[in-house]
Amino acid sequence: MALQIKKDLVTTSRLPETDFDNIPFGRTFSDHMFVADYKDGKWQDARIVPFGHFQIHPAAMALHYGQAIFEGMKASISKDGTPMLMRPEMHVTRFNASATRLMMPEVPGELFLGAIRELVSIDADWIPPAKGSALYLRPYMFATDEFIGVKPSQTYKFIVFTGPVGPYYPKPVSLYADTHYIRAAEGGTGFAKCAGNYAGSLLPAKLAMDKGYDQVLWLDAKEHKYVQEVGTMNIFFHIGDKLVTPTIEQDTILKGITRDSAIKFYRSEGIEVEEKKLNIDEVVEAYDAGKLNGVFGTGTAAVVAHVHQIAYGDKIMNVPHGEADGYGQKFKTFIEELRAGDIEDKFDWIEKIKVRETA
Ligand SMILES: Cc1ncc(COP(=O)(O)O)c(C=O)c1O
Repeated sequence: MALQIKKDLVTTSRLPETDFDNIPFGRTFSDHMFVADYKDGKWQDARIVPFGHFQIHPAAMALHYGQAIFEGMKASISKDGTPMLMRPEMHVTRFNASATRLMMPEVPGELFLGAIRELVSIDADWIPPAKGSALYLRPYMFATDEFIGVKPSQTYKFIVFTGPVGPYYPKPVSLYADTHYIRAAEGGTGFAKCAGNYAGSLLPAKLAMDKGYDQVLWLDAKEHKYVQEVGTMNIFFHIGDKLVTPTIEQDTILKGITRDSAIKFYRSEGIEVEEKKLNIDEVVEAYDAGKLNGVFGTGTAAVVAHVHQIAYGDKIMNVPHGEADGYGQKFKTFIEELRAGDIEDKFDWIEKIKVRETA
């Protein structure tokens, strides 16, 4: 049965009050949001409503026991005005992997993607056209049972809201390889995009900042020497002529969709990418041998963020080309051109969205 979405649309858009040349990241929200409720074992009451506050019960279980997961994706617009998504089905898969780990119900692809397609189609005018700008999409789910006691909730809300974001030009970052605090241990929730993972990272991030570093480079929980990831990015090391990145076979690293795209892109360009359990001592050795040619992070928000310095114990590595690693830049340019519809979609990653006809 086709997905039925009830619609209650705004009569006056807030768009004219929005300056696309000056959009603070994460603070501007478009006109509508999608909401669906899970109860009696099924998703129901799919609806698109004006973006705004909603009521929540003080005992809602998500607030106490943390059943809360999310995704971060982007819609862009081509020069001819076609809204586009990139690899949206990968986000559905990851969202449902997060749901399963947290004992939450899956959101069927039809519901997840139907919500996004309809929302993007309705709020297509909110997609900023400048290259590198996008409409950020935030699908999320949380537990709503009104109950005190640790058990899986029986009811949930799935919501998607969106907001325009400007081109993200992150300045090169410095990383502090933490040998005390950890983000994820084997058997834990590191691979899930759940709220608690981010809450737990805040104190170590603050302590790293107090030491003068921008972000934490997470190491494994047992030996504190295998590289995992950074803040909201996966990480690549340009060693000699090849790229090396931690394998995501373990359940401690988020399976970044930008990471996957980067690997496919580089391999298609004939650039070797090695995925391995990566000991930070190998990075230090490469640095000492003058073979560490660049380091960069990949993620939906920035696409690529260059790393100019890594601290590990007493060792401070000043990464050459930290401002513009050629490999990192090459991929960033490719994704920006792909999202603008300027180049051929050779990997078949782009989904075009039909814009809603206005009456
Ligand atoms: C912890 C973490 N790692 C990596 C990433 C990069 O993933 P993606 O490329 O899918 O945005 C993100 C962002 O979603 C993240 O939050």
